[in-house]
Amino acid sequence: MKTVTGFASATIGNVACGFDVLGFAITEPGDEVILTFREGSVEELPVSITSISGDRGALPRDPKKNTSSFVVLKFLEYIRTHKGIDFEGHIELELKKNLPLSSGMGSSAASAAAALVAANELMGRPCSKMELVQFAIEGERVACGSAHADNAAPAILGNFVLIRSYNPIDLITIPPPKNLFCTLVHPHIEVRTAYARSVLPRMVSLKTATEQWGNVGALVSGLLTSDYELIGRSLVDVIAEPKRAPLIPDFYKVKNAALEAGALGCSIAGSGPSLFAFSSSLETAVKVGDAMQEAFLNIRDKLQSDIWVSPVCKEGAKVI
Ligand code: HSE
Repeated sequence: MKTVTGFASATIGNVACGFDVLGFAITEPGDEVILTFREGSVEELPVSITSISGDRGALPRDPKKNTSSFVVLKFLEYIRTHKGIDFEGHIELELKKNLPLSSGMGSSAASAAAALVAANELMGRPCSKMELVQFAIEGERVACGSAHADNAAPAILGNFVLIRSYNPIDLITIPPPKNLFCTLVHPHIEVRTAYARSVLPRMVSLKTATEQWGNVGALVSGLLTSDYELIGRSLVDVIAEPKRAPLIPDFYKVKNAALEAGALGCSIAGSGPSLFAFSSSLETAVKVGDAMQEAFLNIRDKLQSDIWVSPVCKEGAKVI
């Protein structure tokens, strides 16, 4: 018998202008997955779920339907067919969910990433982190019906990750500027990713696309040159944000509160309802969080929220 625990933190997809092609990881909160390998005991499937905590019973317990066990099944299949690694035994999976569901914080990607680093360790590290990303992306399809990589890739690799291409997958990690801090505010409502994707336009005009890719290029340049002003100017999303803003009560008031408190920029975290803001000092990032929380409290139904202030996580998913 051998036990390994994996941890992966929250991630923020899109980063305003980079819909489905840019995301980053923060240092906390995160999900934990504990895998126990029992030699010899062969069951119908090589992975079973023994417990899930923190999800109020919302997540599937069927190993083929739960993201964290599904990605481990895919990983085991891959190492058997591609690396010649087979085993006689069974893996029990325990998931400690600390990330809220349907929050825009990369909850499903964190569970998948934590499970994958633990499984890789359990099997003697046959795969690189880059190889693990493909299974985490498949996990997203199980979780929300779309295999987007902008949460899954940074959940495993850390840093900012730019998805240059999906087919074939081509990922570029971008280390964060030294003084970049993220404020993440999670209002206590749920927005399902599948729904938030259904409100997006199928087509965009050339004018809109031009504006968007100008900002993506500039944001990447700002990150690489630590140009905080440029980062702020580039956090503009003319495609997803206008369509998703109505799903978040008083989105524009909360965003303005962040900007007035000194944030470089602010937008929807992934598919929402959380918002993220960047600041160039920890002190400002804390102030920004207070202002955003206050703005949510001031709206008609006094929406409660949680705040996390964090640098960008450089490490990615890890064994703890
Ligand atoms: N890129 C994804 C979306 C992120 O915007 O739907 C989901 O968190």
